[in-house]
Amino acid sequence: MSKLAIKGGTPLRDIKKHPWPCWPVWNGGEKKVLAEVLDSAVWSYNGPKELEFVKAWAKFCGTRYALAAANGTVTLQMALEALDVGFGDEVIVPGLTWQATAAAILDVNAVPVLVDVEEDSWCVDPKAIESAITARTRAIIPVHLYGCIADMDAVMQIARINDLKVIEDCAHQHGSEWQGKKVGSIGDIGSFSMQLSKILTAGEGGALTTSDENLWTKLDALRNCGRRPEINPAVEDKGSGQYADEGDLIQSGNYRLTEFQAAILLKGLKRLPRQNRIRSQNAVYLNDLLQKIPGILPMKRDSRVTEQAYFNFTFRYREEEFNDLPVMQFREALSKELGLPVEPCYQPLNDCSLYRPLTKKRYRISEDHRKEIDPARHRLPLCEKVYSRQSVAFHHSVLMGTRADMDQIVDAIVKIRTNLDDLTAKRKP
Ligand SMILES: Cc1ncc(COP(=O)(O)O)c(C=O)c1O
Repeated sequence: MSKLAIKGGTPLRDIKKHPWPCWPVWNGGEKKVLAEVLDSAVWSYNGPKELEFVKAWAKFCGTRYALAAANGTVTLQMALEALDVGFGDEVIVPGLTWQATAAAILDVNAVPVLVDVEEDSWCVDPKAIESAITARTRAIIPVHLYGCIADMDAVMQIARINDLKVIEDCAHQHGSEWQGKKVGSIGDIGSFSMQLSKILTAGEGGALTTSDENLWTKLDALRNCGRRPEINPAVEDKGSGQYADEGDLIQSGNYRLTEFQAAILLKGLKRLPRQNRIRSQNAVYLNDLLQKIPGILPMKRDSRVTEQAYFNFTFRYREEEFNDLPVMQFREALSKELGLPVEPCYQPLNDCSLYRPLTKKRYRISEDHRKEIDPARHRLPLCEKVYSRQSVAFHHSVLMGTRADMDQIVDAIVKIRTNLDDLTAKRKP
């Protein structure tokens, strides 16, 4: 077989001739609505596009309510605040996630308790949740990571037994379904990110879902400087101002989204089901081929998953089956063959360059608190193993390609396997 691209050979894919699908996706429809919003002079603050979006988002997610917000970090923070989580409380969170999931807990002065994940889904391990529960635990944040859904049956059962709240971090999973229920509709609150790389995006943005009117009321006030909700999209006919009640006023800030973003999200939402279908079909096809390659382990597809959305496509790699070629070099070789970034999973949060709670003065509440928020106190052997030895990930836009594109990913891995001697020869004794 031909020489590997990483060794100066010709890459399997000529990306000048055959670029990978672009992300984000837009057309003249977006340009039109952006101009409409511009001309309307209503650029923010409960505008018609935002109201239309939150209604559509609640319907899509199967919840009574949805809210739009600035990003998927502040949505987590607001969810914690709406559930009255704060100083003295502990919140259980998987150690393998984007730093925001844990940082939001720090920002409400609670203690993130990092727990390990399941090796075949990279989502929180329910047994690890159970072992981490203390008298101070108030909530769990399961993260539906990349292309897997956390075991929500187990999470909800643990929450029920221990009287804990559940915030689903759905930043990666707009449209995934667990036993026929959309993610974001299973726990108390769902939190979504609409940042540029996400499968529904307005460049930046976030959303919250809940079916609890009380929580919705609090969340709406939290995102809007503590103001009581003016319009309840679920019961519009009651008119505005009905929630104003001096006694209920709370402290908060501005976490609102603009009308421009809401308009873009409405357009993206129309495309989302079809895009999810294409990604899912390609992922199933690709996994089927990958599982035939020794040393490549597709992620678990739980039989309770009824729809799977993909932020990243990921799989596990076993260097033992690749002449001990370290996963980092495997990723580099794959990246060169395909002309696309091939990444590891997130760095485990007990040693993550972007999760450094001890550097922030705001968190120096007491010496005890400082010790508790030190991420290094947590042992996360599976997160560490997955990150340093197994993880291979690429962006969901790749899954928007054709069957031939999926075949080419497989061909690239086979090419690496066939040329392993070129990559590992120097390292042999
Ligand atoms: C799992 C997870 N949670 C939360 C966030 C935060 O979202 P945002 O970037 O919109 O603040 C992200 C962003 O990548 C994420 O991946």
